[in-house]
Amino acid sequence: MTWNTKVTELLNIKYPIIQGGLAYLAYSELASAVSNSGGLGQITAMSLESPEALREEIQKVKKLTSGPFGVNFAIGQHGRPYTHFLDVAIEEEVPVVSVTGGNPEPFFNYLDGVDVKKLVLVAAKRQAQKAEQLGADAVIVVGQEGGGHLGKDDTSTLVLIPHVVDAVSIPVIASGGIGDGRGLMAALSLGAEGIEMGTRFIATKECVHANEKYKSAIVKGTVSDTTVIKRTLGAPGRAITNKWTEKILELEKMKAGYEELKQFISGQANKNYIYNGMEDGGFAWAGQVMGLIDDIPSVEELINRIIKEANEIRHQWGK
Ligand SMILES: Cc1cc2nc3c(=O)[nH]c(=O)nc-3n(C[C@H](O)[C@H](O)[C@H](O)COP(=O)(O)O)c2cc1C
Repeated sequence: MTWNTKVTELLNIKYPIIQGGLAYLAYSELASAVSNSGGLGQITAMSLESPEALREEIQKVKKLTSGPFGVNFAIGQHGRPYTHFLDVAIEEEVPVVSVTGGNPEPFFNYLDGVDVKKLVLVAAKRQAQKAEQLGADAVIVVGQEGGGHLGKDDTSTLVLIPHVVDAVSIPVIASGGIGDGRGLMAALSLGAEGIEMGTRFIATKECVHANEKYKSAIVKGTVSDTTVIKRTLGAPGRAITNKWTEKILELEKMKAGYEELKQFISGQANKNYIYNGMEDGGFAWAGQVMGLIDDIPSVEELINRIIKEANEIRHQWGK
């Protein structure tokens, strides 16, 4: 069975499966494994120390795969200036960029005239419409069950995808809560042209930067073992529930501001868990889908399995 969708055509990939930008985790090993397995792998620019470190990482990906890949830019409020990083992506002629966490307008203006496919990760209809208006080639739409930063409206993927599909003409890529062939087929049924997965790709062999304790927490965790933190800062994000997230919620309940919360939600606190395995000494983003994840396969095994499951469903449906 073939897998042609508007997203496979747009991105020139075999399967409509995209690996999400994953702050501090999405490097060349993971991205190239996804691209070599027929999906679109991505590396995350803003987790890298410098533009030159991004160049090195891009060059590593190019050595490891001949397939298309993306560079993700999280351009959040407290983020670093990104134009020097974007310059490198342009110079290295990366085929795809994705952007999230801020207004894509200046980002797109900067890319004016550059031959690159532009994806925007959004969490609401109006953001998707704005991305389309600004010239995005596709939108990635994340529902509230997803891992990492989310929209403020708590809309589930099941509702948000058709809502956005009806509102834009560019292809929609469904994200949030997807981890297997059933999720892929569900997303396509809702009108999406592909899927993006975050949490599922962390629990793979090629996500080499994730501490084994993080992967093991994803495998052991149930659908109820995540918590949304930073809601009071207007930047909600879903993480694995632990003592650290409980402390954050307690502070948020007491109306702590950014200054008080800073040390608990910092990049260092994130790294303490995801790199150093300090399960109660930091936090780790993950989505509710971790309750459906029970192994740590290679990326190739994972993608082949998802496609096999999806093909079985297509067969049952007679499609
Ligand atoms: C650990 C982690 C870090 C993330 N970092 C980023 C990021 O830097 N940029 C981005 O566009 N999305 C980021 N996301 C969101 C993912 O790309 C994806 O949209 C999300 O994980 C989808 O939900 P799922 O985890 O249920 O698959 C992150 C998600 C996780 C779990």
